[in-house]
Amino acid sequence: MGGSGIGATTAEAFAQHGAKVAIVGRNEANLKGTEAACKAVNSRAEILPILADVTTDAERIINETVVKFGKLDVLVNNAGIFATGNILNIEVDQFDQILNTNLRSVFLLTKFAAPHLVKTQGNIVNVSSVAGLRSFADVSRYCTSKAALDQFTRCIALDLPAHNVRVNAVNPGVIVTDSSIRAGMSKEEYEKYLEHCKETHALGRVGSTKEVADAIIFLAADTASFITGTTLPIDGGKHAMCPR
Ligand SMILES: NC(=O)c1ccc[n+]([C@@H]2O[C@H](COP(=O)([O-])OP(=O)(O)OC[C@H]3O[C@@H](n4cnc5c(N)ncnc54)[C@H](OP(=O)(O)O)[C@@H]3O)[C@@H](O)[C@H]2O)c1
Repeated sequence: MGGSGIGATTAEAFAQHGAKVAIVGRNEANLKGTEAACKAVNSRAEILPILADVTTDAERIINETVVKFGKLDVLVNNAGIFATGNILNIEVDQFDQILNTNLRSVFLLTKFAAPHLVKTQGNIVNVSSVAGLRSFADVSRYCTSKAALDQFTRCIALDLPAHNVRVNAVNPGVIVTDSSIRAGMSKEEYEKYLEHCKETHALGRVGSTKEVADAIIFLAADTASFITGTTLPIDGGKHAMCPR
């Protein structure tokens, strides 16, 4: 979980439920903001901000968390970047950057977390996307990274059931965060895109970070004790729609 968007709201939700929460990101100010927000919803919340890059610091992230809290119950792989681009002009390093962040880092964090989750019979929730379930023009790197993440989710779920470790993913539709702005969209373009999304989401609107956080909490808790290997769309029905 992290210092902005879905990760920040999810950290708050875990804190509200009394969990001890490690939050990870490269932006120190954002991490401090998330820490303060967690304390605001639960003044006794124990928060561990870890300034780190998931592509290079996965082992340290897991180690620092376990040293601080003594165990690991839940791993939420949320860090991710969005990018557009047509195959006619995508460079190889741009492809690598998306796959390194959205997929390879999840492999690394899962690898280092798994022995600790086996001890606690814990679980993993990966933050994928409707872009893992469906194909969209000019988003091949992102769609491919999330489709691979979905398959990784199912495969790791089958690696760990003997240890009662569950592995699931949420697949959000368009959720209002800064991710598209970070990917280079102007504020005006983003507003126009959100308006267009009323037609591409069956429920006629985009989603909120809280709606995704609630689903992550559901999957991480005992309420989902018989659910593993699932990819759960939180997308107002976008995955079910077909253009006609
Ligand atoms: N918003 C949507 O419409 C939407 C839809 C479907 C899926 N998602 C997925 O939801 C997840 C969260 O995205 P968001 O929408 O909440 O966007 P966001 O606000 O931009 O959050 C992305 C988070 O990932 C962290 N991050 C990125 N690269 C990192 C790295 N190398 N090391 C550590 N942290 C890194 C960022 O922290 P720092 O910048 O501090 O490093 C940031 O907190 C992503 O996986 C995204 O693909 C979003």
